[in-house]
Amino acid sequence: MTNAPRLDEAPPPVRTGAPANPALLAAATGATLDGAALARAWRPLAIGGVAIGLPVVQAALSGYSDGPMRRVARALGAPYTLGEVVIDRFVTRLKNTTRAARHLGVSDDEHPVGGQLMGSDPDDFAPAARRLVEAGFDVIDVNFGCPVKSAMGGCRGGFHLGQPEVALEIVARVREAVPAHVPVTVKMRRGIDDGDARSREHFFAIFDGAFARGAAAVTVHGRTVAQRYVGPSDWDFLREVKRHAGARTVLGSGDLFDARDCVAMLAHTGVDGVSVARGAIGNPWIFAQARALLEGRAPPVPDLVEQRRVLALHRALCAEVDPSGAASTMRMFGIKFARLHPHEISVRDAFAAARTLSGFDAVLAEWYAD
Ligand SMILES: Cc1cc2nc3c(=O)[nH]c(=O)nc-3n(C[C@H](O)[C@H](O)[C@H](O)COP(=O)(O)O)c2cc1C
Repeated sequence: MTNAPRLDEAPPPVRTGAPANPALLAAATGATLDGAALARAWRPLAIGGVAIGLPVVQAALSGYSDGPMRRVARALGAPYTLGEVVIDRFVTRLKNTTRAARHLGVSDDEHPVGGQLMGSDPDDFAPAARRLVEAGFDVIDVNFGCPVKSAMGGCRGGFHLGQPEVALEIVARVREAVPAHVPVTVKMRRGIDDGDARSREHFFAIFDGAFARGAAAVTVHGRTVAQRYVGPSDWDFLREVKRHAGARTVLGSGDLFDARDCVAMLAHTGVDGVSVARGAIGNPWIFAQARALLEGRAPPVPDLVEQRRVLALHRALCAEVDPSGAASTMRMFGIKFARLHPHEISVRDAFAAARTLSGFDAVLAEWYAD
């Protein structure tokens, strides 16, 4: 899932016509609204029997959404997060090592949390799904969206959008494999390719079939697999999907770069929840900001003291879980957090040059002092 463009290079989402939820539209612009009217305009999210609350959750993010990132997001107001996608056979064979801790470690302070699986053969999904449940994941999500070459070449992820029968067999196997109280969910893109005549038909066959086989919710990314991250997410398509879904739970994904985008997607599409991806990397405050907008308050802006507190928290959690990898992980996150600093370029360069945890600490001391 690499090569995603920088946030400031992304074109705006496709958004035409009337919003599905006009009452929320003003909230997306930060207009002061009657709190009671706003409270009526959105509903707390639930995934099956799992209560989530704020309908703004953190997406699965390969290379990022490990335990420390999820715990930071939860501590700052994300109501639900997903781990990085894992390949079914890899999970089943994983021994109890540091790698297992990274992929299967679930902390007491992060429930509810989802684990996401990707694979090619329906037979391999059931044992992997059971292992994720044993590890403590509260929801099992199946990935039918990953566009990277290795996934497509290995008949995994987005590849399944071209073969609905296999995709639905996978959903059915996972649903059978895990206890009834554990919701099974699906993540899809809006199709394989607009040039493929059956792309749309396959999308709806998988979407409806997944619910028919017991899926509790589907998250739809409004780009095709062929688009990868190029071009906008089609929010008009998400609005159409939610209208089609009726009472079935749909989450939207794509082009959620700040809290206003999150509320704007809820307003335009009428989806039950939104799944924040790139917009949450280096900005875990996005959840509290979205909550504020939904409650008619001004979104809180983290000052440098708050940014330093959260960077230090993230560093401490990383060092606890993976002492040898923490320096390079925090270098990567520091570069992303630098976006919020008034001296973005200098701070980004300083994090990029920090190869050790003490180097990271020195950047905090120099650039995030009171
Ligand atoms: C670095 C990166 C890693 C991602 N990893 C995953 C993943 O593991 N599972 C998944 O379903 N989607 C993954 N995605 C897709 C996102 O969850 C999301 O659907 C997509 O980025 C669109 O949202 P955005 O435009 O708001 O970033 C990833 C995206 C990025 C940029």
